Amino acid sequence: MKVRAIPIVFLGLLLFALPAFSQVDPGPRGGPAGAGGPLNSVASNIPTTILDFFNNGKTRFLNVSSVAGTIAGAPGVGLGPRFNSRSCVACHSQPAAGGSSPSTNPEVADATANGATNTVPSFVLINGPVREARFPFFTDSSGNPITSSPNGGVEPLYTIAGRTDAGTCNATVISQPNFASAASHNNIIFRIPTPVFGSGLIENIEETTLLSYLGAGSLYGVSGTFNRNPNDGTISRFGWKAQNKSLEIFAGEAYNVEMGVSNELFTQERPTPEEERATGLSSACKTNATPEDHTNFNTTALATSSDSVMFAMFMRLLKPPVQQITAGNVARALNGEATFTDIGCASCHKKSFTTAASSLTADLNNVTATLYSDLQIHHMGTVLADNVSQGNAGGDQFRTAPLWGLGQRLFFLHDGRSTNLDDAISKHASTGSEATTVVLNYLGLTPTEKDDLLIFLRSL
Ligand code: HEC
Ligand code: HEC
Repeated sequence: MKVRAIPIVFLGLLLFALPAFSQVDPGPRGGPAGAGGPLNSVASNIPTTILDFFNNGKTRFLNVSSVAGTIAGAPGVGLGPRFNSRSCVACHSQPAAGGSSPSTNPEVADATANGATNTVPSFVLINGPVREARFPFFTDSSGNPITSSPNGGVEPLYTIAGRTDAGTCNATVISQPNFASAASHNNIIFRIPTPVFGSGLIENIEETTLLSYLGAGSLYGVSGTFNRNPNDGTISRFGWKAQNKSLEIFAGEAYNVEMGVSNELFTQERPTPEEERATGLSSACKTNATPEDHTNFNTTALATSSDSVMFAMFMRLLKPPVQQITAGNVARALNGEATFTDIGCASCHKKSFTTAASSLTADLNNVTATLYSDLQIHHMGTVLADNVSQGNAGGDQFRTAPLWGLGQRLFFLHDGRSTNLDDAISKHASTGSEATTVVLNYLGLTPTEKDDLLIFLRSL
């Protein structure tokens, strides 16, 4: 094949034009998923039980739920009455089970599955990211946000009304939140799924290790602080605002909030925040005894544990994403990583921490977790602010997003507003953002330096 030569004059124009476009992101890395398998010694532990726990947890993570567990292909029990999707993997699937938003949004099919009569909200698009919605403020009767009355709770997209397995629950006693009104009053924000690969390592970093990095970015105007669990006062680390303490708490919460499955960690069915203030949830829609997911007595060890416990175990034993540098790009990726540190990205996106001693498995014990995050929350400015406070994290504070696994991600930032790394980085800079100085450094790079940095990021 003949390589087409670009006339020198056009090449000059092209180079000149490059900085004006956001085209330097090489895009999602092809090839096999660099994630999704179990930690190393778990994988080689055949046929002992630790791998059985991983596989059993994975099966449950993949399981689709229906209201009573009686629908073919949907054996999980307890869907709804309100929900966002029907399985963990529906939202956590790119590039493998445990990941982030896939290219085809499952929430479109969820709206009408098994006879459900939901309207797909305008912001749920078949090619867009999986979205979870929150209304930052309660409203007056005309839908105007009352800024002195913070809401911020998750507003589930759908109800089970109309489903063949919904019993007496119907659309006269339960309706979808008024998303159109919230959108027209600018009172809605979104969150996309965070990937859970390597999360057992994140869970097992000692507090003193994290605290030792506080203040490391002062040279670049970066400060930062930690979100903490209000019950025991320790550093919390999961979710876009580091609002959640542990994988098991997150699993229980997600089971109830995303799928409507009550469990031993979150024992009641969820109404919307307005319903909670006004009427509570209609009893017609509480079709099952609670908790729907629970410990099962007198069965084998694996079957005894609840789904919530086994989801957490699966996530804890998931290997972190493995860096893969495309052949021929090694020098450029190394160069990009050096620039990443030089210009100050690493003052928040800290390359690695060593985990604490683990009682569970050697793979979590004193190992290097290359997560590219300090797990601190930072003020990210007016452009990224979502006006939702969670724990110590205020309206414009977010956890430094771990960058491992970035290479195969499709959507970026907490609400999935970017599909392009260059754009995601640029949006770090706005009034009040701790990252502004660093982003100005980024914008000042030559096109080649930027390309190398993005090649590095797509190798993660
Ligand atoms: C409708 C989509 C959806 C479903 C279904 C879903 N999740 Fe998520 N998940 C999300 C979103 C969105 C976030 C980010 C939430 C936030 O921080 O505001 C998230 C975050 C998480 C996190 C935090 C990871 C981290 O490091 O930040 C864990 C753990 C998690 N989910 C576990 C689960 C489990 C277990 C299930 C099944 C019971 C599940 N999720 C089902 C959308 C979903
Ligand atoms: C002040 C701390 C800080 C600095 C400095 C910083 N980041 Fe971030 N970064 C964050 C936070 C916080 C988020 C999540 C923001 C959100 O989702 O709204 C993030 C998100 C990202 C994302 C999207 C990740 C995802 O999961 O969607 C990328 C890519 C990224 N940063 C790259 C960089 C690069 C490259 C630099 C250096 C030019 C940089 N960041 C500098 C804090 C920082």
